[in-house]
Amino acid sequence: MTPEMIPVLSREQIQKKVFALAARISEDYHAKDVVVVGILKGAFIFLADLVRALTIPVQIGFVRLASYGSHTSSSGTIRITKDLELDIHGRHVLIVEDIIDSGLTIAYLLDHLKHRGPESIRVCAFIDKGERREVQVPVDYAGHVVHEGFLVGYGLDYNEQFRGLPEIYHLKL
Ligand code: IMP
Ligand code: MG
Repeated sequence: MTPEMIPVLSREQIQKKVFALAARISEDYHAKDVVVVGILKGAFIFLADLVRALTIPVQIGFVRLASYGSHTSSSGTIRITKDLELDIHGRHVLIVEDIIDSGLTIAYLLDHLKHRGPESIRVCAFIDKGERREVQVPVDYAGHVVHEGFLVGYGLDYNEQFRGLPEIYHLKL
């Protein structure tokens, strides 16, 4: 059976949210030395749009984290499969993620990066999904808040499918 895809955010709605986030971030980090850290793979599209909408210069790095779990949720076991190469000592770090669900991925990464002596670390997620939060993590910037549902598109995948869709959909499996 083909899964049902219910539209959640159009291209225009996404663009407005990205610009609003970029305006806040540009203001908050005015004249600061910022390193944007994207979490692969899901955040690559959001990060590309976000950094082009910022009015402050930033450096950009990526990490990749793997979690063992099902296709639709992460498990407690997380490891880094590609680490950050930039030096963040004394810098302001902004982690960019596609979606925060249980919070386990971000909690792990925050802990990992804190040991490298950054001046500050904040989290920016395009989607903040509250329903299955297991650990309290600070979501300093959220583009859109949803309670539940499995979302695809705009970088978000289901089983490596749908990342390239320019809109966001709720996938009803
Ligand atoms: P967390 O560790 O549970 O917060 O999971 C975050 C990661 O789970 C995200 O980076 C996504 O890869 C994946 N994820 C969680 N919810 C969704 C969803 O609704 N659609 C696609 N991926 C999701
Ligand atoms: Mg992800």
